[in-house]
Amino acid sequence: MKTILNVKNLGKRFEGTQVLTDINFKVAEGEFIAIMGQSGSGKSTLLYNISGMDRPTSGNVLFGGKEISKLDDKKMSEIRLKEMGFIFQHSHLLKNLSIRDNIVLPGFKSGSVSRDKINQRADTLMIRTGILSVADHDIKKVSGGQLQRAGICRALINQPNILFADEPTGALNSSTTKDVMNIINKVNAEGTAVIIVTHDAKVAARADRVVFLMDGKIHDELRLEKYDGDEEKEFSREKRLSGWLEERGF
Ligand SMILES: Nc1ncnc2c1ncn2[C@@H]1O[C@H](COP(=O)(O)OP(=O)(O)O)[C@@H](O)[C@H]1O
Ligand SMILES: [Mg+2]
Repeated sequence: MKTILNVKNLGKRFEGTQVLTDINFKVAEGEFIAIMGQSGSGKSTLLYNISGMDRPTSGNVLFGGKEISKLDDKKMSEIRLKEMGFIFQHSHLLKNLSIRDNIVLPGFKSGSVSRDKINQRADTLMIRTGILSVADHDIKKVSGGQLQRAGICRALINQPNILFADEPTGALNSSTTKDVMNIINKVNAEGTAVIIVTHDAKVAARADRVVFLMDGKIHDELRLEKYDGDEEKEFSREKRLSGWLEERGF
């Protein structure tokens, strides 16, 4: 498997505090990784520093073999727009725009394909995530689950090779969490690599690999089989992960 993201000796310091130390890991194309750890262990900081939203104070991040940690802001935002997708706990959609307009906007901005093509992609994504019926609604008129699905559609509009997610289900109830994770697993099964930060073992159990952070260092990791939607296997991988987390005081 080819490596899409290679993180080497990454460190991050905020003024006097070393938040991340000597982080090393590789992500293969199409891999699904969950990052777990106590609150304050550095999960979000790690995600921001490997996705070019922030810059590490030491070490390297290679994306598709190319060093991105030292690119200027303009080049970095272009890579983020065209080659990466991002979702967060709250999807930060623009007010006064419809769901559809929010989704197509980064597609139009990227300018790599025609507007017609972007509109078609948006329709396909909204059908797949079950929000086509609210496409023309104002973002204030839809549910939290619908907003989060819209956030996913927006993140996928430029067909990224990698999707970064920081606690994407943190504000959702358990049934909506399941729906959102089913979508993310499907996207991953089609070849998009996923890196998700979560404190929810049920969410992390959908990944191929769980990386456990402790005090800004990778403590260790657990490998799981590729998720295939089988309910019984899902239950046993959740049990295995919960036991593993418990051993680490989580
Ligand atoms: N911009 C910042 N400036 C100073 N300290 C920060 C900043 N961002 C995060 N930190 C510190 O880094 C540590 C890890 O934070 P974070 O990555 O948000 O943890 P997590 O996502 O695991 O809860 C915390 O102690 C936090 O206070
Ligand atoms: Mg966080």
